[in-house]
Amino acid sequence: MPDILKIIQERRSVRMPFDPERPISKQDLRQILEAGRWAPSAHNMQNFEIIIVDDKEILEKIGNIKSRVSDTFIQENYQLLSFSEEELLHKKVGLLGAMFPPSWRTPGVKPVVEEGRSRPFPVCPTLLIVLYDPSKRAPASEGDFLGIISLGCMMENLWLVANSLDIDFQIVSALASGLVEKEVKRILAVPEHLKIAFTVRLGYAAAAPSRYLRVRRDMEDFSHHNHFGNKGID
Ligand SMILES: Cc1cc2nc3c(=O)[nH]c(=O)nc-3n(C[C@H](O)[C@H](O)[C@H](O)COP(=O)(O)O)c2cc1C
Repeated sequence: MPDILKIIQERRSVRMPFDPERPISKQDLRQILEAGRWAPSAHNMQNFEIIIVDDKEILEKIGNIKSRVSDTFIQENYQLLSFSEEELLHKKVGLLGAMFPPSWRTPGVKPVVEEGRSRPFPVCPTLLIVLYDPSKRAPASEGDFLGIISLGCMMENLWLVANSLDIDFQIVSALASGLVEKEVKRILAVPEHLKIAFTVRLGYAAAAPSRYLRVRRDMEDFSHHNHFGNKGID
């Protein structure tokens, strides 16, 4: 089996602070962007723009944006949480509750201001802000469904190449909606008609990344042979 499967299996999210004094080299950055450039996209629309942010002042401004986590997030997040590794291993989907501050994992508890801040992300030397134009869509693609899938393909390409260069990577969704998105767009002079699709923290973990349980459904759980419900591929 070629190394590609190993790279896919070892790709992972690193959510801890990255060393701010250890930048991503231009050469590595170019390779990561080159991977994004060759991603498949519906109708070959290549429906993205990427702002590379490595200016410390701008990073700090973005990092200091205050926002509150929404009630919807808390409610829907709760449905996907496990409260022990055993529970997560059994469910095989979702995340460990311990990843979130207590008020984010307890419906009905109003987040206090400090904790409820989105804390958009821990320190990093480089951020990629991925933008798209929601008014441009692949033909007859309701809700730009195909365009959004295309952005996901691009995300994965960036991620796989970053990780294969030993560069740590975290998607940060919190900058892509509401007042936070508005503020990031203002700071970066993003034209009004573009939206933030997702943001990437890139860097090198400041300390050894802590062990973290990654679970996946079994192949038999999601594969169906010829007819839906006919489980497995034997
Ligand atoms: C569209 C999308 C949005 C995500 N948003 C976030 C996010 O805001 N913060 C975060 O830490 N991880 C985010 N993730 C990462 C997932 O939580 C992560 O991929 C999943 O838990 C599996 O863990 P792994 O990446 O280590 O395999 C996102 C992933 C995707 C594909």
